Amino acid sequence: MAGIDVSSLFSLSGKVALVTGGSRGIGRMMAEGLVQAGATVYVSSRKPDACDRTAAELSALGPCRSLPADVATEDGRAALVEAIGAREPRLHILINNAGAAWGAPYAEYPASAFDKVLRLNVAAPFLLTRDLTPLLERGAADGDPARVINVGSMDGLHVQQRVGTGTFAYSASKAAVHHLTRTLAVELGPRNITVNAVAPGFFESRMTADVLQRHGADITAACPLGRIGRPEEMAGIAIYLASRAGAYTNGAVIPVDGGTLLT
Ligand SMILES: NC(=O)c1ccc[n+]([C@@H]2O[C@H](COP(=O)([O-])OP(=O)(O)OC[C@H]3O[C@@H](n4cnc5c(N)ncnc54)[C@H](OP(=O)(O)O)[C@@H]3O)[C@@H](O)[C@H]2O)c1
Repeated sequence: MAGIDVSSLFSLSGKVALVTGGSRGIGRMMAEGLVQAGATVYVSSRKPDACDRTAAELSALGPCRSLPADVATEDGRAALVEAIGAREPRLHILINNAGAAWGAPYAEYPASAFDKVLRLNVAAPFLLTRDLTPLLERGAADGDPARVINVGSMDGLHVQQRVGTGTFAYSASKAAVHHLTRTLAVELGPRNITVNAVAPGFFESRMTADVLQRHGADITAACPLGRIGRPEEMAGIAIYLASRAGAYTNGAVIPVDGGTLLT
């Protein structure tokens, strides 16, 4: 039996990664982890300034570049696919993280919320993965598949108990991301690409700033660990799924929520 080389098990040395929504929040936490594990990381989001700033900051840790694009539009995705293809002959890791939420009272919940949230949270990860599949196939090696990591949410795995107001389109979109992950795992596994999802609980970000301010005490009380997540815990799951350690994990939806789903 061959020995286990733990020293390189989590290394991403020589790998190329693209993180959508990598300019801040969860995407930045993941990008920072991948850079430190040795990958060359492209961070992408709509605002060029924000992308450039994050790439410059993370460059202190390793190679990190800015590739701004709006992944909710066909033109934006096409430009992103072309830009990364022009710079890299192969892609090893795609993190579909860019996402948006929309909360409103039930009686006023707008149709436009579904258009916006489902287009960005569900259609974009599918279409970007589809269009980057040739580059990912070139990144896949024998025993070391290319990786797609979708960012879902705890909200796609349980039902919030607050009645009267809610994030109806968002929670539906995240349940859809989880199931999309499973169907893509079956579709792309034979092409040597794994597809998994991370379902975060609460982490500090622009998206959660307001809810954490208003309901922070309830949120931490509902978590068996009594706190929200830390950036290194989002980095850790991304490194696991992207590295040799996670090579046989496929089609999984992994909660990173401190056990909140169990309460
Ligand atoms: N934070 C949490 O506790 C938590 C929990 C569960 C799930 N999540 C999920 O984690 C992901 C990131 O959320 P976050 O909390 O980090 O939120 P955030 O701070 O609002 O970050 C969202 C990121 O996505 C980018 N983005 C938004 N629309 C985009 C578009 N059309 N095209 C490209 N990039 C776009 C934003 O940059 P620009 O504005 O420059 O485009 C930003 O980089 C989302 O999928 C969210 O559902 C977060």
